[in-house]
Order: sequence, then C-alpha cells, then structure tokens
Amino acid sequence: MTAETIVVIGAGVLGLSTALAIQQHLKPGQSLLIVAREFPNTTSINYASPWAGAHYRPAPGKSPQVVREARWARHTYDIFQKIAAEEPAAGVEFMEGIEHFENPPQEYLDAIRDPDSAYAHLGDSLRELSPAELPEGVKWGIRYWAYCINPPVYCAHLLRKFILRGGQTKEYTLASLLEAFHLASNVTTVVNCSGLGFADPKSFIIRGQTCLVRNPSRTTVTRQNADGSWSFSIPRPLEGGTIIGGTKQPHDWNPEPLPEIRATLLANAAKWFPFTPESNGQFDVIRDIVGRRPAREGGVRLEAETVSVVGTDGQTSNRVVVHAYGAGGRGYEISWGVAEDVKGLLLERGVLQERAAL
Ligand SMILES: Cc1cc2nc3c(=O)[nH]c(=O)nc-3n(C[C@H](O)[C@H](O)[C@H](O)COP(=O)(O)OP(=O)(O)OC[C@H]3O[C@@H](n4cnc5c(N)ncnc54)[C@H](O)[C@@H]3O)c2cc1C
Ligand SMILES: *[C@@H]1O[C@H](CO)[C@@H](O)[C@H](O)[C@H]1NC(C)=O
Ligand SMILES: *[C@@H]1O[C@H](CO)[C@@H](O)[C@H](O)[C@H]1NC(C)=O
Ligand SMILES: *[C@@H]1O[C@H](CO)[C@@H](O)[C@H](O)[C@H]1NC(C)=O
Repeated sequence: MTAETIVVIGAGVLGLSTALAIQQHLKPGQSLLIVAREFPNTTSINYASPWAGAHYRPAPGKSPQVVREARWARHTYDIFQKIAAEEPAAGVEFMEGIEHFENPPQEYLDAIRDPDSAYAHLGDSLRELSPAELPEGVKWGIRYWAYCINPPVYCAHLLRKFILRGGQTKEYTLASLLEAFHLASNVTTVVNCSGLGFADPKSFIIRGQTCLVRNPSRTTVTRQNADGSWSFSIPRPLEGGTIIGGTKQPHDWNPEPLPEIRATLLANAAKWFPFTPESNGQFDVIRDIVGRRPAREGGVRLEAETVSVVGTDGQTSNRVVVHAYGAGGRGYEISWGVAEDVKGLLLERGVLQERAAL
C-alpha cells in the first residue's frame, strides 16, 4: 500500500465540510490532513466562520452566480435537515424564517411564482404574508421554514467528527499554496479552502458588524430597508443568544466595532423584531462582532488545476489543486453543495474512490 496524503487548506466552514465529504471516499493508504492558520478553537478577524449569523435566506435571481449558489443551497438545506434531526449537538435548528421588504426588488416578486426559482424547494412552508401581517413601512413579506446555525458550536462539531474518523490536523500559516505539498509525505492533492487566502485579485472583503445579545428569540427575521440597509435577527441554537445585524460594507477594513452602528442595529431590532416579553425593548449585550466575509467577483472559485511541484529529489511532478474559496456572505448556506462539487472533481480525476468507506 502506498502512503499518500491529501491536504485541505483551511478550517472554516468550507474546509471542514469539504474535508468530511472527501473523508468518506478515501482509498486505502490515503490520509487526509487539514492545514490551517486558525481552527475552531480560536478567533481572528481574518477567519470568517466564527463571526457569521448564520441563517438560511434563499436568494432569487438569474445571474449564473446566483443560480449556481441556489443549487448548492438546496443540497445544503437537505443535509442540514438530516443534521438537525440526527445530531442535536451540532447547533443547527430549523425554525420560522420571515422576510420583510420596504421596497421589494422585482426579482423576488417574480421568483415567488417561478417553479425553478431559489424558493421552489421550500414547498408548502413558503407563503406570502397577508397585508394584515405586514408591519408598518413594509410593502411585501414572506415566511418559510429556515434553519439557524450556531457557528462556533457547529464548526467545532465538524472538526470533532473529522478527527474521530481519523483525520489529521496541523496548525500552520502557509506563505504559498505550493508549501502545502511539503507538509506531509507524498502530498498529491491540495484543496484550497483558504477563504480570503493569498491575494487573488478578484477576492475582496465585505465587512459585517453585528451585535450578539443574550435575549432569546424563536424566529429569524430579515428586513431589507428602502435605503439599501439590512436588519436581521438570527437566534443561535443551544442557548447561544441572538445575533442582531448587520452591515454589508465592501472593502471596509476597519476591525473596530462602531458604537453608532451598534446603537442603530439595536434600536431597529427593538422596533421590528420579536423577542420574549421580558426583554421589554432592552438588550443584554454579550459582545459586538466585526467579521470579514471572504467575497469574490463572480462568486466562489471552484475548479481543479494541475501544478508542477519540485520534489526533494529535484524532480518536477504534476499535482492537483482544487480551489474552493470566495463564499462571501453565504459560506454556511452553500457549504455542503460546494463540498459535494469538490468531491466530484476529485472523483473525476481518480483521486478518490466512488464507493464510500464505512
Ligand atoms: C457578520 C457576518 C454574517 C454572516 N452571516 C452568514 C449567514 O447568515 N449565512 C451564511 O451562510 N454565511 C454567513 N456569513 C459568511 C460566512 O461566515 C462565510 O461565508 C464563511 O465563514 C466562509 O468560510 P470559509 O471556510 O470560506 O473561510 P474562513 O472561515 O475565513 O476560513 C478560512 C480558513 O483558511 C485558513 N487560512 C487562510 N489563509 C491561510 C494561510 N495562508 N495558511 C494557512 N491557513 C490559512 C484560515 O486560518 C481558516 O482556517 C456571515 C459572515 C459575517 C462576517
Ligand atoms: C504517492 O502516491 C501515489 C498515489 O497513491 C502513488 O502512486 C505513489 O507511488 C506514491 N509515492 C510514494 C513515494 O509513496
Ligand atoms: C487548536 O486546534 C488545532 C487543531 O486541532 C491544534 O493543532 C492546536 O494546538 C489547538 N490550539 C489550542 C490553543 O488549543
Ligand atoms: C488559493 O486560494 C487563494 C485565495 O484564498 C488564492 O488567492 C490563490 O491564488 C490560490 N492558490 C493558487 C496557487 O492558485
């Protein structure tokens, strides 16, 4: 049996989900190693995953990026239904999702009657709100069966599962992707789930400021305001409080939370979002959050490429790199779809075996 290592760079939600999807299809003699600067046992501003909401909100639209993401999101929704039912400690919970629009974009109104839209898979759980259900200032609204995730709990859960199934980890900061080929014996394949990673000119950040409060809530609500701003509340399952958000600020590198943003977010939440009566319009703040969504023009880069690597013997050989980064604000929602496509690329290239290992 030849020893061979497959390396996954990154332990964010994309790296962890991808590693788990690959792990089921390893051939005898292959081992899987996650190399990352940050793992779920830590936080850092350039590690997006712990800072997310995170909830499901279908995004209608016809651009190739949106259509591809909708396909990934449907698959991910199905997997999360299984996880919520079978793994209660994962921190994934289904609940009512509500959206309010002060000024509904036409593509949302069209999508609701389109059998191929991003809404179609929601079935009977999807319905338009009646005029009587719309709060003041809201022209249109919908509700559907959504899920919410407690990101730090969920990512730690994925990592634990990976390690229990024999996966290896290494805490390391790569200066170049090619370095990954030298971190274990006979690395033939590297999967690049580095989020923002190593300066792809198409990659950029979208700053998000939110506020985590102790107040519990049982519904996730998103409101798109007429001025283009967003307000949302996202419960964190397993008593993790509620995320009150949030900003979407492309190219803004300010790592500090702004007090005036916090004040606006909480004032809007007090007006618009359902909290238990004892909250009484007051919030018990746990902390401000600033995160950087790892976005990319055109969306996720998902492709395989062949690279030449110089070995210790001076010989050059061809190796495989599969890229999976640039998820922007939807890393959780598309995670299992992306993982499935990476697995598909590796099956196509014969790196993995079709039959799932037991
Ligand atoms: C405020 C906010 C709200 C959000 N809400 C939602 C939501 O509701 N739904 C949703 O789906 N998503 C949401 N997101 C987006 C989500 O957080 C991201 O899409 C997701 O976390 C991206 O995951 P990732 O694995 O690609 O990247 P990351 O989590 O950033 O992980 C990157 C990994 O690569 C490693 N790495 C990078 N460079 C190197 C290097 N040189 N050497 C070694 N390792 C390296 C890092 O250490 C890390 O392990 C939100 C984000 C924010 C900020
Ligand atoms: C490395 O792995 C490949 C694929 O399994 C195998 O063909 C090759 O013989 C291995 N090389 C060494 C030096 O083990
Ligand atoms: C965090 O987890 C990684 C990966 O399992 C490990 O290598 C590292 O030592 C851990 N760090 C701390 C501070 O526990
Ligand atoms: C790996 O991903 C990063 C983005 O995180 C990108 O900038 C880089 O170009 C990729 N590496 C290679 C060798 O293409």
